[in-house]
Amino acid sequence: MTPEESTPRQLLISYNEWEGMDSLPADDRALLQAAVVALDGAYSPYSKFCVGAAVRLADGSIVTGSNQENIAYPSGLCAERTALFAAAHRYPEQPFTALAIVGRNAEGQLVPATPCGACRQVMAEYEQRHRRSLHIILFISVDKILTLDGVDSLLPFSFSM
Ligand code: THU
Repeated sequence: MTPEESTPRQLLISYNEWEGMDSLPADDRALLQAAVVALDGAYSPYSKFCVGAAVRLADGSIVTGSNQENIAYPSGLCAERTALFAAAHRYPEQPFTALAIVGRNAEGQLVPATPCGACRQVMAEYEQRHRRSLHIILFISVDKILTLDGVDSLLPFSFSM
């Protein structure tokens, strides 16, 4: 028995690269700045790694979140989900339009915090719920920021029923 022929396929992920915060469009810069401010709310005594996230809603309001750790490790929550759940709770009727994320290491330097798989799945579900794709702003370094449109670029083949 020979295996059947199968055609290899490729996925294209597109994103934009910006040469630092100052080069971002004003809305994106403001959201990323809100995520940087949110870093100060992090409770991360175990990892010593802070993450800040800021969600923009369709009416322009911004809700922020930060990672919250717990001595029973899995009980903590990432910054992205802290922000997304808070926003969904406070504004159940408002679609989310954008999400900015930034990390800060134990030395106090801003570093990348690209979202974990669980946060990507949560982002995907809010896109479906709101029928609106999310603009995502990822801090990489002081001279590199990435923006993507749609969670599909971060989580292709996400779970759905
Ligand atoms: N963390 C986030 O807040 N967001 C992510 O996307 C990845 C990781 C947090 C969880 C934990 O508090 C710390 O970063 C180190 O893993």
